[in-house]
Amino acid sequence: MPSPATDAVIYLDNAATSWPKPPAVAASIVDFLEHRAGNPGRSGHALAVAADAVVAATRSELAALVGAPDAARVVFTLNATDALNMALWGLLVPGDRVVTTSIEHNAIVRPLHALAERGVTVTRVACAPDGTLDLDDLARALRSGPVRLVAMCHASNVVGTILPARDAAALAHEHGSLFLLDAAQTAGVLPIDVREMGIDLLAVPGHKALLGPTGTGALYVAPGVRLTPLRQGGTGTRSGEEHQPEELPAGLEAGTLNTVGIAGLGASLRYLRGRGREAIHAHETGLTARLIQGLADVAGVTVHGTRDPALQVATVSVSLDGWEPVDVAAALDSSFGIAVRSGLHCAPLAHRTLGTFPRGTVRLSPGPFSTDDDVDRAVAAIRKLAGTVG
Ligand code: ALA
Repeated sequence: MPSPATDAVIYLDNAATSWPKPPAVAASIVDFLEHRAGNPGRSGHALAVAADAVVAATRSELAALVGAPDAARVVFTLNATDALNMALWGLLVPGDRVVTTSIEHNAIVRPLHALAERGVTVTRVACAPDGTLDLDDLARALRSGPVRLVAMCHASNVVGTILPARDAAALAHEHGSLFLLDAAQTAGVLPIDVREMGIDLLAVPGHKALLGPTGTGALYVAPGVRLTPLRQGGTGTRSGEEHQPEELPAGLEAGTLNTVGIAGLGASLRYLRGRGREAIHAHETGLTARLIQGLADVAGVTVHGTRDPALQVATVSVSLDGWEPVDVAAALDSSFGIAVRSGLHCAPLAHRTLGTFPRGTVRLSPGPFSTDDDVDRAVAAIRKLAGTVG
């Protein structure tokens, strides 16, 4: 199958999945397949032991990144959606109430919708049209009755607006609620310390800002929080017993793990540690500022969100007068070699909040390997398109 010509592509779709990956990711995957591809925790031979070591090392890297007190409480998942489903379905039962926000991705919206059909009450706190969350509104929702869980994103996947996770967690705890954070757009960029921030459940994807391969992710489960597993099966532990073991991580990791992906994720986490999360965040904030500033005065272009690089991650959504977002994305791709995502970004409620439903927006998301030149070319291309009719 021919591959697309990627040499010249300007990739501004890191909010969907990061690209390119650090070269060590592919090298680690090849090394794993060639030299370590046994089944971790299942056998005692050298290949299985080597695979186990790779899984353990990646788990420890992840635990360190998010300040988890015990690496065993970091459970590997397929992605952030998988982690969120594990948390929501594993915790909530009919009669429970959950408080969430109006800026969430479908990874929270849809499980909660399905849970609501089974007797869970969902209260949605409205965010402002720039995506910001007023903590007084959250406090009001928490005061109006017992709440089992507050579930929200760390930053919007549409406009990048950062939500006040630490303060929201404190409020949740004040009202006897647990706190679940969807860090799909922030893990690897913003500081996350589960203990310091009071996060009981944290969902992260491996393939976005953690720079690992798709098919990887994790759920952190705080001590004392018990989840009913969505899957039962072999864990390589307590194999004589019919019931699913409770101990983590095995209790929530039935079946063979995506060891190949985890090997790649281990390499990307080491890259991240070497380059420094703060340095990457500073780089991306600079690109975000350049993008927002570059687009600010273009006639016919609306930049959504806070338009303040300090208040958002590197995800910028725009609309062009007279253009369907999907046509802008197609024109950027075909005429300028610029890769972006358009439409609803799997977050229809967020678009309702922003006032951009049902057409959605054009989303540009630079990453750690994007350059000033990439941003300048994207601005120039949008300026050109905005001067024509879609
Ligand atoms: N959740 C990813 C996005 O926002 C796929 O594009």
